[in-house]
Amino acid sequence: MKVSGRHYRTIWLGPGGSVCVIDQSRLPFEFSVAELASVEDAARAIRTMVVRGAPLIGATAAYGLALAVRVDPSDAAIGAAAAELLATRPTAVNLAWALGRMRRRLEAVPPAQRAALALQEAAAICDEDVEQCHAIGRHGMRLIEDIARRVRRRVNVLTHCNAGWLACVDWGTALSPIYLAHDAGMDLHVWVDETRPRNQGASLTAFELGAHGVPHTVIADNLGGQLMRDGRVDAVLVGSDRVTAVGDVCNKVGTYLKALAAADNGVPFYVAFPGTTIDWSIDDSADVPIEERSPIEVTHVTGRVSNGAVATIQIVPNGSTALNLAFDVTPARLVTALVTERGTGAASRDGLLGLYPERRACS
Ligand code: MRU
Repeated sequence: MKVSGRHYRTIWLGPGGSVCVIDQSRLPFEFSVAELASVEDAARAIRTMVVRGAPLIGATAAYGLALAVRVDPSDAAIGAAAAELLATRPTAVNLAWALGRMRRRLEAVPPAQRAALALQEAAAICDEDVEQCHAIGRHGMRLIEDIARRVRRRVNVLTHCNAGWLACVDWGTALSPIYLAHDAGMDLHVWVDETRPRNQGASLTAFELGAHGVPHTVIADNLGGQLMRDGRVDAVLVGSDRVTAVGDVCNKVGTYLKALAAADNGVPFYVAFPGTTIDWSIDDSADVPIEERSPIEVTHVTGRVSNGAVATIQIVPNGSTALNLAFDVTPARLVTALVTERGTGAASRDGLLGLYPERRACS
């Protein structure tokens, strides 16, 4: 996607051999590029959310492993680097998927061939993610077109967190259909949940949509239900960090409440993700690891103050404790449809297997 007229992906190989990423911890106030020169840099970037979003976490881990292999291509070094990267964030399954794919490819060839192959494979993971997200956009756009035909006015879509191009390598998952629909000339508007505690909606989704010229309005997370009651939301469209084999959807905390409100108001609730986000090993959503992050993200907020500086301020009384579970699970029964690179399907085991029939033998 374009920022100030220049096309960017979120991750690319720099001319000096280091890996370049857009530093999302500085957005929306500063657009800057961070260089990752080692596996430690890559792990730190994921852990501190310089990069975030399920597909991008996987892509960064793939390049992180490539940086490690350049230093030491032995099986032992690959195993240690993969363990370090895997420990960075627990919920997005794309991380384990990317590391598993990289290891299988690398360990099948002699160490001397691994450095070049690792870079090639990491680049392939990125290119495939771009293709998949674009395909998600094409399939999801049809849903928006159907709504537009029915309502015959501007279509209002509500989204939570950031499932746009910043969360992926390009295009995004939930935002990809919105970009394609907007580019096709459709009149649409996006309600952007601010997404406390880290405000990925207010800082990242609003930044992306604004840079692309998509009309949008940032709202407090708690407003969505009332907007749905008032008929001001035509569809909810979100991403996911891990979809279970039966179609339950883990995504940024607050997603579940939006799904409940949508069901109560007859608003369709769509979840967009690539096949790499499905965890075929989990049937019971209680087994999805939910990340618990620092309470400081709840007790404090970061923003630009009146003198232009970016500052972090405390918003709770001294001594109050806070709990920061970063994700929740929306049960499949609340999901109207899943949107993947293969098309649209029901949120159920059968729905997923219909889209990914090659998994039938394993399920
Ligand atoms: O904690 P984050 O910012 O990594 O969480 C991101 C989300 O919850 C996104 O909705 C999800 O990764 C889907 S990304 C296309």
